[in-house]
Amino acid sequence: MRVLSGIQPSGKLHLGNYLGAMKQHIELQEDNECFFFIANLHSLTTIQDPNRLVGLTRDVALDYLALGLDPNKASLFRQSDVPEVTELAWILSTVTGKGLLDRATSYKDKIDRGLTPTMGLYCYPLLMAADILIYRSDLVPVGKDQVQHIEMTQDMAGYFNRTFACEVLKRPEPRLNEALVVPGIDGQKMSKSYGNTIDLFDSPQQTRKRIMSIKTDSTPVEAPKNPEHCSVFALFKLMAEPDEIAVLEQRYRAGGLGYGEAKQALADVVERVLGPARERRARLQQDPDAVEDVLRTSGRRAREVARQVMAEVRAACGLVASKDTHG
Ligand code: TRP
Repeated sequence: MRVLSGIQPSGKLHLGNYLGAMKQHIELQEDNECFFFIANLHSLTTIQDPNRLVGLTRDVALDYLALGLDPNKASLFRQSDVPEVTELAWILSTVTGKGLLDRATSYKDKIDRGLTPTMGLYCYPLLMAADILIYRSDLVPVGKDQVQHIEMTQDMAGYFNRTFACEVLKRPEPRLNEALVVPGIDGQKMSKSYGNTIDLFDSPQQTRKRIMSIKTDSTPVEAPKNPEHCSVFALFKLMAEPDEIAVLEQRYRAGGLGYGEAKQALADVVERVLGPARERRARLQQDPDAVEDVLRTSGRRAREVARQVMAEVRAACGLVASKDTHG
């Protein structure tokens, strides 16, 4: 299956981002042809500082490569390196009713949050549909908030095919990320806006300190504890191996395990997972040419696919090109 997803840079990543999305996406590289791109054209709807956009784009690449995206298995590229997507977005706009975009809840949410209502924000779903359709993607792994965009993409593929009596655009399916409950250090859902995160690429000392500050109840050390009601255990369960989880669960229920000790066990497991990623990220950061090389090579591969699909799109709607322009 061809899997595609776009990643909008969101700054500093935390365990919730990793477990709830990135890890699940990266795992898809084992059995699928994966296209992951950094959605820098979409980012222009909210980031209008060129240096910041360049930096955030590079950070996404570093983060994904550090966390295990393997450029020999999956493509990782910049959205803007395939300029054909903006052409397809325009073509889709000509077969899509305005009413469809009027119903996009993400647009309304963004305006409610105080963003300026630009045409870019409004047309966001058209560009996203073009991203997906231009690679004939089968499966689009996303969070719940993006499902409406995928449904709109399905609709747009249908509008195009029907209008031009063809089967050029392929209907994609969403693949919902497994909705994990990842608690933050205060027990609420881990989220940047709650300030309760455990960040992915802090130093080992900072990370351990953060874990030691997870809120727990005041059950004394000797007393048996219910692991189901403990954020420390919930995080451990998301990060550790099954046998380790079974052992810790036993110890919670038996009594005699203090929360301090449980936190140390969690910190050890977190370090085991994040330590190698942190090192890989530091190494890659010293080698910008290698990162650039991955993005460029992947971008070329993606653009090749996009060009072929666009040739069919143009032919279907009568945009006949002169040879030296598109040849
Ligand atoms: N809108 C997505 C988000 O905010 C990012 C995105 C852009 C995307 N184009 C895409 C996701 C295509 C999947 C497929 O997360």
